[in-house]
Amino acid sequence: MQIKKVGVVGCGLMGHGIVQVAAQGGCNVICLEAEQAFLDKGLARIEKSVEKLAQKAVEKGKASEADAKAAAAATLGRIRGTTNKADLADCDLVVEAIVEDLGVKKALFAELGSIVKKQGIFASNTSSFPIGEMAEASGRPERFVGLHFFNPVQLMRLVEVVRTDATDDEVFAAARSFGEACGKSPVSCKDTPGFVVNRLLVPFMVQALSMLERGDATKEDIDTAMQFGCGHPMGPITLTDYVGLDTTLYILEGWCERYPDEPAFAIPALLREKVKAGKLGRKSGEGFFKWDGDKKVG
Ligand code: CAA
Ligand code: NAD
Repeated sequence: MQIKKVGVVGCGLMGHGIVQVAAQGGCNVICLEAEQAFLDKGLARIEKSVEKLAQKAVEKGKASEADAKAAAAATLGRIRGTTNKADLADCDLVVEAIVEDLGVKKALFAELGSIVKKQGIFASNTSSFPIGEMAEASGRPERFVGLHFFNPVQLMRLVEVVRTDATDDEVFAAARSFGEACGKSPVSCKDTPGFVVNRLLVPFMVQALSMLERGDATKEDIDTAMQFGCGHPMGPITLTDYVGLDTTLYILEGWCERYPDEPAFAIPALLREKVKAGKLGRKSGEGFFKWDGDKKVG
């Protein structure tokens, strides 16, 4: 089973990156967004990233300028945008990367189940929800996996490939091969909360926010401590801005509902306050820090 045509639903922080790596891997990709303005923003972001990577390849001597330009043009040529779900009908694989809300995701998959060809595989990029519940909602649980990419998708080398008891072996193998075609190292995960990475990472971020809330250390010192003391590429407070405070809150809310007695998932009040104030992190220009595009400025 070879995946040649890929649909990606959502062209936000994660979706735009998934579209790009799938196209870089040689797939034809169609990206579905809720509104044209969001689609335009996501596609512009892909163009900028593809250009940046081409420039880097030349600087590092990995490609001539002509070859890098041709590869970039070929990648962009494989990408198309749409706001019409019916355009996903002939996709071999559809990867969902919309808001972290289980109800919204289940409704989307129920609709896609009657639109996309029967052999088509479905995948969710959810950070925290059970893959099995979305699989049931789609009406094709044996053709459903989790494909959990990491932010920024263009640079992070991991993809978690999640299977449920119902996932067909052939479907799982095709999903892993797709991850490899995207330039990632796949790891296999069971359908457990947060899979491997987020089950470890999100409680760590929560501990850092709780520390900040208690006034144990400043946000700068917490970040510096983990960068220089543990070799993390960025500290946990910056990382929360990077992931998105809204997404972090949705992940924790979902877990708190399912596992109310698990202290590792307790939500810091500071996180709720920031989200309520519209401070969502890098994507809104301010979270715990201030951002100008991808750069932290204060
Ligand atoms: N496309 C193309 N180029 C990009 C890019 C993108 N999306 N993002 C950054 N770059 C470029 C930068 O422009 C920069 O180029 P120059 O060297 O020419 O300036 C280069 O890549 C390196 O970027 P940075 O200067 O920002 O430097 P960095 O070495 O710190 O790398 C990073 C950035 C890879 C993001 C690194 O800081 C890192 O690994 N951070 C941790 C990220 C992480 O933990 N992600 C997981 C989040 S959790 C998750 O995703 C799961 C979930 O469900 C919530
Ligand atoms: P985001 O808010 O940046 O993007 C979501 C996009 O989906 C938006 O552009 C929105 O317009 C679009 N959308 C919403 N409903 C839609 C619909 N019904 N049809 C089409 N488009 C729709 O969010 P994000 O950070 O990219 O997160 C997306 C998913 O990826 C979530 O499930 C999240 O948990 C997961 N995830 C996030 C990260 C991260 O670091 N932010 C990392 C891994 C996985």
